[in-house]
Amino acid sequence: MTVRLSQFPSDFVWGTATASYQIEGATKEDGRGPSIWDTFALTPGAIVDGTTGDVACDHYHRYDEDVKLMADLGVNAYRFSIAWPRIQATGSGLANPLGLDFYRRLAESLLESGVTPYATLYHWDLPQSLEDGGGWLNRDTAYRFADYAGIAAEALGDVITNWITLNEPWCSSFLGYASGIHAPGKRVGSQAAHAAHHLLLGHGLATQNVRAARPDATVGVTLNLYSVRPATEDAADRDAARRIDGLQNRLFLDPLLLGEYPADVLDDLGETEWFAENPATDAATIATPIDFLGVNYYSRHTVAADPAGAQTARTSDASGIESTADASSNPGSESVVFVDTGAPKTEMDWPIVPEGLVDVLRLVNDRRPGLTTFITENGSAYPDVPDADGYVDDTERLDYLQRHLDACAEAISEGLPLAGYFGWSLMDNFEWAWGYTRRFGLAYVDYETQKRTVKKSGAWFAQLLADRVASKEA
Ligand code: FCB
Repeated sequence: MTVRLSQFPSDFVWGTATASYQIEGATKEDGRGPSIWDTFALTPGAIVDGTTGDVACDHYHRYDEDVKLMADLGVNAYRFSIAWPRIQATGSGLANPLGLDFYRRLAESLLESGVTPYATLYHWDLPQSLEDGGGWLNRDTAYRFADYAGIAAEALGDVITNWITLNEPWCSSFLGYASGIHAPGKRVGSQAAHAAHHLLLGHGLATQNVRAARPDATVGVTLNLYSVRPATEDAADRDAARRIDGLQNRLFLDPLLLGEYPADVLDDLGETEWFAENPATDAATIATPIDFLGVNYYSRHTVAADPAGAQTARTSDASGIESTADASSNPGSESVVFVDTGAPKTEMDWPIVPEGLVDVLRLVNDRRPGLTTFITENGSAYPDVPDADGYVDDTERLDYLQRHLDACAEAISEGLPLAGYFGWSLMDNFEWAWGYTRRFGLAYVDYETQKRTVKKSGAWFAQLLADRVASKEA
């Protein structure tokens, strides 16, 4: 199959994505304070291979080489994240000039290479000091986040105009505070929804502060959305789908785009009362107008009710690591099971369903017709085997990329307002609880030598971008 390139508008944004803790390393340099991921990675058993992000891809020292890699691929945009503890070591107070300077150098290098920076302000590395004060369970963290966002926009807004407040608040709240398979590894059950609320509040406040500092900024937020289907049309399975769509999609989409939480989801969580006690003004803050919504799309969930009940429940989630019924990533909906439909899967065990990408863009457009969207992440892990030169013949990843790009073409042809696509990831990196055992890169990283080698999928992507330029010029 081929990608219907002619569907993409000429100003379509073609990029790759990464995140600070996953690539930077240099965790103790130039005044960076510890984050919850530094702490979590040292917890025995938390990371499957016992590794940390201390060195990762050493991008902090090799960013110039990595910008060159992007220029070679021919992308015109790069989504990276700013490590909050590099800017404020303890999450509050004066900015660290050395931290700001790193991101300025990175952004300038990108601009010189014709690559537009898209900066995510929070891709999960909360300053540890704030976690010590309750982390996202504490409402005050939302205000600290907004302060930091204002500082970053003020200091870097001349070289960065595209801002993404949060990456995947579902993961930060439910993997971080319910199943505890991500940092900070807390298990507070349904109260993880309080973290979700404070993240969303922080997003709204941060959006306002970025705009106040830089009126010309474009600001959005990135959600991990899933296409969710019931395994059968039975009422119980349809209810299971309602629950998972509720927790993973609607709990975030509705307050952001419709100005209210879905009542059924708060009810499933048993948190209706807590949410009712929040200041009435929170709803408007969370729904502060955004310029775009970032969508991370990887897979579809097919779900069913578990007739055996919660005791035997098995829940799957975005981490690919199974949580258990006593500390589920889907609190209040523990008796839902994720069903194997036989669709081919990536090494993460995530079913490959490209048409689900169109489904999730419809979820956004149904709520806010015409809102610009970007696929801010999409990609696949496979057990790469490099040859003697470090080259990886990753035909399966190439196929995944091709099919999902064609799903983007399909979405555009349906009139859905999709403005860009960022492949996850520029290069292999620290895959959270999976450590270095899962590779998503378009370029292979030899962690011993730090050599980057473009994989077959990366070369294919580069050729696609070159063909596109050629067809524009013809
Ligand atoms: C997403 C994360 C990203 C990466 C991919 C595989 O949930 O945002 O950092 O780990 O999954």
